[in-house]
Amino acid sequence: MNIKTVIFSTTALTFVGILGIGLEDVWSDDDDGIKMRSRGVAPVTDPLYKEECGSCHFAYPPGLLPAASWQRIMAGLDDHFGDNAELDTQAGLQISKYLTAYAADASGYRRSRAIISSLRYSRTLPLRITEIPYFRHEHREIPRRIINLPDVGSLSQCNACHQRAEKGSFRESEIWIKGIGRWDD
Ligand code: HEC
Ligand code: HEC
Repeated sequence: MNIKTVIFSTTALTFVGILGIGLEDVWSDDDDGIKMRSRGVAPVTDPLYKEECGSCHFAYPPGLLPAASWQRIMAGLDDHFGDNAELDTQAGLQISKYLTAYAADASGYRRSRAIISSLRYSRTLPLRITEIPYFRHEHREIPRRIINLPDVGSLSQCNACHQRAEKGSFRESEIWIKGIGRWDD
């Protein structure tokens, strides 16, 4: 090891250390009776959003992504993860307004705050909930064979596992996966 390598490793370790401490407070789990409102994210309330953006997949609660992510998604609906999800202008504007108003960075809900905090070291704007560091951390222990089950298919299918996802609630005690049952870690 030459001196440059040593300096580099030390710097890298310090950085990981800072990051580790930073993430600790965000990701600490407590399953004791804190009220659901403060634990979850705000449930979907806009009927137009639910109808238009809930036809191919679960209508993701807006508090799961920052406003800038929603705006980028809404601006690219003609090529939406390989699908065309275009809307007429009026509906597009109304939905954008709803998503922005209830986005994670505008929300006081605990999960939304955790999502925003976990993004503070990210350089790119996430276009998926499933690529957010907080999300990846929470799901890192789920084996591929469970994700690949025919009734799940991908981590984007929140409601295949979180039975109360529609209510904005993602508590571990509410997880139930078809073919597996309850989640016990
Ligand atoms: C025509 C079908 C279709 C419609 C309509 C649609 N989507 Fe999607 N959406 C997809 C597909 C396909 C994916 C990728 C899913 C995957 O990778 O499993 C996706 C993924 C997403 C993701 C990322 C999920 C993740 O992996 O974290 C978001 C956010 C999203 N859509 C938002 C929206 C919004 C907002 C609307 C309404 C304006 C919408 N979608 C309407 C097909 C659609
Ligand atoms: C394959 C099933 C599955 C899918 C799909 C899934 N999750 Fe999870 N999720 C889990 C499991 C299992 C845990 C608990 C992980 C652990 O404790 O090891 C979890 C944990 C969480 C937590 C933390 C809960 C807590 O009390 O600490 C949140 C928030 C969450 N998921 C949100 C989502 C969202 C949003 C989606 C969709 C974008 C999603 N999940 C998709 C299985 C899933």
